[in-house]
Amino acid sequence: MSAVIDLRSDTVSKPGPEMRRAMAEAEVGDDVFGDDPTVNRLEAIAAERLGKEAAVYVPSGTMANLISVMTHTRPGDEILLGDQCHIFNYEVAGAARLANVQTHPLVNRPDGGLDPAAVRAAIREPGSHVPRTALLCLENTHNRCGGAALAVSEMAALAAIAHGQGLAVHLDGARIWNAAAALETTPAEIARNCDTVSFCLSKGLGCPVGSLICGPRGFIDEARRNRKTLGGGMRQAGILAAAGIHALEHNVARLPEDHANAGRLADGLRQYPAFRPNRPQTNIVVVDIVEGSQEGWLKAFRDEGVLAVPFGPGRIRMVTHINVTGAAITDALGRIERIAGARPQ
Ligand SMILES: Cc1ncc(COP(=O)(O)O)c(C=O)c1O
Repeated sequence: MSAVIDLRSDTVSKPGPEMRRAMAEAEVGDDVFGDDPTVNRLEAIAAERLGKEAAVYVPSGTMANLISVMTHTRPGDEILLGDQCHIFNYEVAGAARLANVQTHPLVNRPDGGLDPAAVRAAIREPGSHVPRTALLCLENTHNRCGGAALAVSEMAALAAIAHGQGLAVHLDGARIWNAAAALETTPAEIARNCDTVSFCLSKGLGCPVGSLICGPRGFIDEARRNRKTLGGGMRQAGILAAAGIHALEHNVARLPEDHANAGRLADGLRQYPAFRPNRPQTNIVVVDIVEGSQEGWLKAFRDEGVLAVPFGPGRIRMVTHINVTGAAITDALGRIERIAGARPQ
């Protein structure tokens, strides 16, 4: 059987030989003591690239968001966020369970943004009966909105409303490098209006593990304490951080390739009446199944060695990444032609 083309997520990518060499050769120390020179270097590079004072390296995007929420809030506060966002849908209610905040979801627009009037209306007047609205969380690119890259001007408008009412703004920028490529700007520009930003090394950038939180120095000091509380303090983490430095140096410029591959995949899928794909701005293809069943198509794809994931009722997701070449997309479309062209499910 020909090679499996794994489009379930950009998190499935595996480090190549050069990244592995950088990891093997990394200088390390005990990062909980602040002694790991490679982690320190990664944090300095991340802060500089995101235009923030400081950064802290954490094991995952989920922990990065949780620590950010914990650090911005007090127990009993309320946070505003999109109803389609990752924090609300896919982080096992960690914000509620571990940061002890109430999540107040607002309807996400298809571009990943929020209605400014809805944000304004959701911010509570202070009072002895109500939670303090403390934080607005944004996401860019937006996973459930099909990798949409939210315009910096939209973010600025939302942040201005939040800041005007004394809220902080956190950006879940798990795929901020994809957003920057799509918007033809820098991650710092995207994060400019947000107090803090988290981003993942383990998605489009192709690392095995790791995320960073970037923000003001005092916030990052406190975030470091919260990281320890959650058991996220790692020791000779330079072996992992070296992959991150390698990725920031070598894997950012190639992201438009993933976006072009996603566009070609979506265009190919659109030829079949069974599929209604989005027009991806970045590396995420979300396909509405309009004929046949989600499970039927996922199985048919899997039988041909093309892996996708269910993404809500009647919907599947396919994500391009560093281990999927243009030739693999052509191959995937050939395999899909064999099943979708021959036998609608
Ligand atoms: C937008 C977004 N935020 C956060 C995360 C969490 O990252 P991790 O899987 O590293 O916990 C993901 C993971 O897919 C994501 O898509």
